[in-house]
Amino acid sequence: MTQIRRLTDGTRRPGVLGVHSLDHFSMTVPNLEQAWHFYQSFGLDVREEGRGLALYAPGLEHRWGILNQGQSKKLHYLSFGAFEDDLPRFRDRLSVLHVERLAPPPGFESNGLWFHDHNGVLVEIRVAEKPSPNEKSSFTAYSAPAGVQQGTSYRRNAPPTRPRRLAHLALYTADVGRAIGFYRDVLGLRLSDSSEGNVAFMHGPHGSDHHMVAFARSAGPGLHHCSWDVGAVQEIGLGAMQMAGKGYAAGWGLGRHVLGSNYFHYVRDPWDSADVDYIPADHAWRSGDHPGEDSFFLWGPNPPEDFVRNYEIET
Ligand SMILES: [Fe+2]
Repeated sequence: MTQIRRLTDGTRRPGVLGVHSLDHFSMTVPNLEQAWHFYQSFGLDVREEGRGLALYAPGLEHRWGILNQGQSKKLHYLSFGAFEDDLPRFRDRLSVLHVERLAPPPGFESNGLWFHDHNGVLVEIRVAEKPSPNEKSSFTAYSAPAGVQQGTSYRRNAPPTRPRRLAHLALYTADVGRAIGFYRDVLGLRLSDSSEGNVAFMHGPHGSDHHMVAFARSAGPGLHHCSWDVGAVQEIGLGAMQMAGKGYAAGWGLGRHVLGSNYFHYVRDPWDSADVDYIPADHAWRSGDHPGEDSFFLWGPNPPEDFVRNYEIET
């Protein structure tokens, strides 16, 4: 019954082959203890699993991230979720497009399809429940009604910021145009917006935020940031304070992006996000290409000078 409802309630675009979500990501980090402290401070539920760490949003049994020990911080793989009956079609598509199928990396066995993207990044398509929302996420603007004396709380009573879910990943790539083509043709993602060959934002066809992955031009692949969803601008501000109080003051924010419309605060490396544009499964989004200086951010401080330095290939 659930499956039938899913097919008819506007949360799946009929007849369209495409992944429905970004299921999780995996990366190596040079120090798991530091990673645990960072992501715990960020408000995530960090668990020891296997020989590494796993990232969960509080209250949701979905593993959004896997961290393992490595020589440096480096993106390991991306895993996208698909509907079960689409997996054979993805298998056929990989074959038709001559995308070589790979074995899962040792210790990451799964029933998914593994392959490299256009830039050598390891990607999986797996059967999974859709963990991303089927409608635009709720967003709260805290404001006191007229006559209420205290519209906010004492600072000592401020609630901790706890992300609700992974929102998207932004990836470095050597050729943004090829990235758009690969993720469109192989995974079925759609272009939301782009800017002059420097950045591109792509969404899933089955109801998706404005972007589940973004690409930024660099000399090679890498992970620029993972974005975590919260429900209010106030939570972004409190989250930034929370991180600064734990020793993670470096970053960029508060601000608002133009493409996607989301409010942001980047903390080196992850960042908070709220109120991103949403593209329903029955909506045909008109993608546009936008001038860089006019579409990076609507307001906020200037970004740090190394904001787009790819530390996975540069030092
Ligand atoms: Fe982003």
